[in-house]
Amino acid sequence: MENKARFITFEGIDGSGKSTQIHLLKERILLETGDDCYTTFEPSTGPVGALLRQFLSGRVKTDENTLAALFAADRLDHLHNELNGILEKTEHGCHVLCDRYVLSNFAYQGNKENLDWIISLNERAISVLKPDCHIFIDVTPKIALRRIEENRENIDLYESMESLTKVRSAYLSLFRRFNGQENIIVINGNQSVEKIADDIWNKVSYLF
Ligand code: TMP
Repeated sequence: MENKARFITFEGIDGSGKSTQIHLLKERILLETGDDCYTTFEPSTGPVGALLRQFLSGRVKTDENTLAALFAADRLDHLHNELNGILEKTEHGCHVLCDRYVLSNFAYQGNKENLDWIISLNERAISVLKPDCHIFIDVTPKIALRRIEENRENIDLYESMESLTKVRSAYLSLFRRFNGQENIIVINGNQSVEKIADDIWNKVSYLF
């Protein structure tokens, strides 16, 4: 086993089951290797993340470019802050599993006009910590929406059929753009929880 802290990010439309799979991968890594993982998510629990959650819930409003810049700023704080920053973990040899990272910013806030600008806003984060792989759990918007409606009391900004469909196709076009530059693993998320977890482990076990 190579003794290197791994940084694995999870991506997908809202309702794709990322948090369940992060939990299962953490357990699997512990079982197979004895290594513990730190799990975290974006928007983070920091001050910019707290502000972002107010925008997502509709409590306060702003424009898409401001949102894009705030997500990128939250990411830098998530990496660097001294309390529970990701770098602090990886530098001490701890694997990190992160629910969303730069690809979320590109897929959710990027459009024809501003995608290059958002990619440039994230260059610092990518140069500081590039994921060993991005796991994209691909579910149909219909299944995702059904799960969201079953499990939540409040529906967030991007949790409509129209938005889920748009974001999924934005992800798929990003994968064509980043093909070869980023290690993107697409997993069929329209399967049982156990089968998805096995597929993920089969794709990432070589990292451990
Ligand atoms: P979730 O992680 O619980 O699915 O919710 C986080 C929400 O934040 C989700 O709707 C996607 C959104 N988001 C962005 O729009 N851009 C980003 O850069 C990140 C990290 C999240």
